[in-house]
Formats: sequence, C-alpha cells, structure tokens
Amino acid sequence: MSSLIVLGCMWGDEAKAKIVDFLGASADAVVRFQGGANAGHTIVLEGKKYVFHSVPSGIIYPRAKCVIGAGTVIDPFGLQEEIQDLISQGVDFSGRLFIDERAGLVLPLHKKLDSSSEKALGKNKIGTTGKGIGPAYSDLTARRNLRVGDLAHPDWLKLRLQGLYEAHGEVIGARALNAELKLLAAVWKFLGPYVAQTDVLVRQWYLQGEYILFEGAQGTLLDLGFGTYPFVTSSHTIAGGASTGTGFPPRWLDKTLGVFKAYGTRVGEGPFPTELFDATAERIRKTGNEYGATTGRPRRIGWFDAVAGKYTASLNGVNGIAVTLLDVLSGIPELKICTGYWASGTKLSGYPSHPLDLEAVEPEYLTLAGWEADLGKARSLGKLPKNAREYLDAIQDLLEVPIEIVSVGSDRSQTIVVK
Ligand code: IMP
Repeated sequence: MSSLIVLGCMWGDEAKAKIVDFLGASADAVVRFQGGANAGHTIVLEGKKYVFHSVPSGIIYPRAKCVIGAGTVIDPFGLQEEIQDLISQGVDFSGRLFIDERAGLVLPLHKKLDSSSEKALGKNKIGTTGKGIGPAYSDLTARRNLRVGDLAHPDWLKLRLQGLYEAHGEVIGARALNAELKLLAAVWKFLGPYVAQTDVLVRQWYLQGEYILFEGAQGTLLDLGFGTYPFVTSSHTIAGGASTGTGFPPRWLDKTLGVFKAYGTRVGEGPFPTELFDATAERIRKTGNEYGATTGRPRRIGWFDAVAGKYTASLNGVNGIAVTLLDVLSGIPELKICTGYWASGTKLSGYPSHPLDLEAVEPEYLTLAGWEADLGKARSLGKLPKNAREYLDAIQDLLEVPIEIVSVGSDRSQTIVVK
C-alpha cells in the first residue's frame, strides 16, 4: 500500500513522462489529477514514440490501470482521437482507463474564448497553449460548465450547453446547437464505457495494497495559486492538487518526487530570471529538442535556477528529486546555476510572488566547469564525468533534497537510479 506523486518543479516540460514511465513498471495505477490537453508528454520506447495529452502515460504498461481524475478538464473529441491513435499503435485500453464523471469538459466554445482572450490581452497575453484550458476551468468555478457525466443526460446537456453560450453572450441557433449535441452524443458513445467515479476506485485500490502513482502535468511555477501569476495555467499543479483533483485523502500521499530539468525552460510569457538569449540557448534548444510537444513553439532556455527550485521543492514537500536531460549539457564549456536573487542591492530571502518583482531580480550565479563526454550510455553515477557529478552535487546541495534519479537520454533504459 503506497502512493507517489511525480511532479514537475519548474514551468513544465521537465520530462516527467519519462520518469513516470520509468517508475510505472511497478505501479498498479497511474492517475492524472489536473490540467488537460495542454500537457504534452512524450515517451520513447524501443525507438517508438508515443505522445500523450490527457491519457496518463502509464497506459504503456499493460498491467497499469489509468485514471483521468475529477480535477482535470477534458476535450472529449481530442481524447477520443488520442485513445484511437494509441490503440492504432498497439496500446490496449480494455478495462484499463477510467475517466472521472466529474472532470470538466473543454468545448469548442472554450477554445474560441481562449483565443479571443489572448487576442484581447495583446502584448500582455499569457501565451496559452490555445487548448481552452483557462475558459473551461473558469466556467467550472463559475458553476456553469458541463462535466463528463452530463454527457449521459441529453435534455440536461442541452439546457446547460445553451446556458453556457448565453452566459458568454454567444448566440447559438437551434441548428448549430443540435449539431453540437449530436457530436457530443457520438463522443459519449465512445467515452461512456470508460467513465466512472474514479475516487472510489482509487481509494479502494490503495486500501487493497496497490501502488498508486500520481502523474502531474505542467509544473509548480505554473500553479494557479503559487506560480508566476498571471502567467500560469488554470489548475493546481502543486502536490496538494493530487488530493483535491482525485479525492485521494492527503494523509495517504506517501512520497513526492520532484522532477527538475538540468537547465531551465519555459513556454509562453512571463518572468524567467535566468533566461539566456545567446548561442548557448540555441545550442541547448537544438540538442534538447526544446519545442513544445503540444504547440511546437520553441521553448525559452535558461540556466538552472536553484532559488526557484528551493521554493518549489519546499512548496511540494519534495523528498526526492529526478534530474532530467543532463546529457543535453554535454559539450558546454562552462555551466551556471542561479544561487540567489538580488534586487535594489539586497539579496532576497525568498521567491517573489509578483511578476514585476520577479522581472526585476538580478540572479547570482555559481559557475561550474562543463564536460565533453556523451552521457547517453552511463547507467551509474560513477560512469558520469567528474564535472557532471559535481553539477548534480551542486543542485542537490542547493535544494537540500537527495537526487534519486538522473535521466541521460529519452529512452527508458537511459536512466541512472541513485537510490
Ligand atoms: P494554458 O494552460 O494553455 O492556459 O497556458 C497557460 C500557460 O501555461 C502558458 O504559459 C503555457 O505555455 C503554459 N503551459 C500549459 N501547459 C503546459 C505544459 O504542458 N508544459 C509547459 N507549459 C505549459
């Protein structure tokens, strides 16, 4: 009987799916608790690439049950396509996927609202993924959104859908409304068999002694409450979200593994104190293939930020760390890690919560020598060059949390287990 949360501890894209996949071999259930198709998780297994947006990446393991929890928002059409694509790649879903009937729906209207809200913000835009996530969550908190379970009740669905359009001042004619309802009825036929009250199941599995792995999406600095607001996503990406997003009691959460990329990346707008704009950034972007899995946007690149890392590790109560993409830093002569923030001649003691304060900080850096060797074949810390080990030691010392896993390539096998 145990549970583990695997979380991104920066701005998302920390290669969490690789870590979830690595740990998933022993999981009985893999559970998504927040976010939606804004996530893009890629797993490479024996040279074959699998891309996930809403389906937990644990589906790759034939024995693992997979849950899309109540705290998520689901684009039903996108999810149907994602499931069908994975089935065509040979993934077996029968009796293994459970979608919570309380998860919110992302409807075509939400995508439209996402795009018009970004347009209206102009140069102050958030840089969203355009997947309708913010509007869907806003409608949920305003208690006017539709949820997955509503799809089973056609008359209710019609009323609620009409009400939703009206609430947004959108005129929808009877013909367009009926056409949308028809599509929703068809998608329900496909998704309905997967729908359940997943909280009951997950609690039951845990009590039966099963190992439950909670898979975070996005990252801690994109948390609605504690991230770099307003440049955040609309869900709770921090460890507490695993409980509120699934109905799993907080006191049953046994361990939190924080995933950090060996350097910093961010997509979308918002402050990024250690951002680089030079040839090193270009090199890392190229080597690390730093382009969004969902949008294809080039990611912004920066040095590892241990001030942000300390904040997120503490916020999540992280008690183990995975460092990913260490191999990408090979060949860079000198590496830097941000160890402090300065503002107006004073060293700050915490992580600023206001975007203007965060924009204004001057990072202080620790400089370390790089290494040349290709790390892709290393399977133990001892096989890493001394400078790579020193780089990891610096991260571990600054964050004051032990490194348990190091990833040195995209394949499942390219993983070093420290503990
Ligand atoms: P939204 O989640 O589409 O509303 O986008 C809000 C912010 O979160 C934007 O800066 C996005 O780029 C960012 N974001 C959303 N999902 C992800 C993700 O999976 N990885 C990295 N950034 C993300």
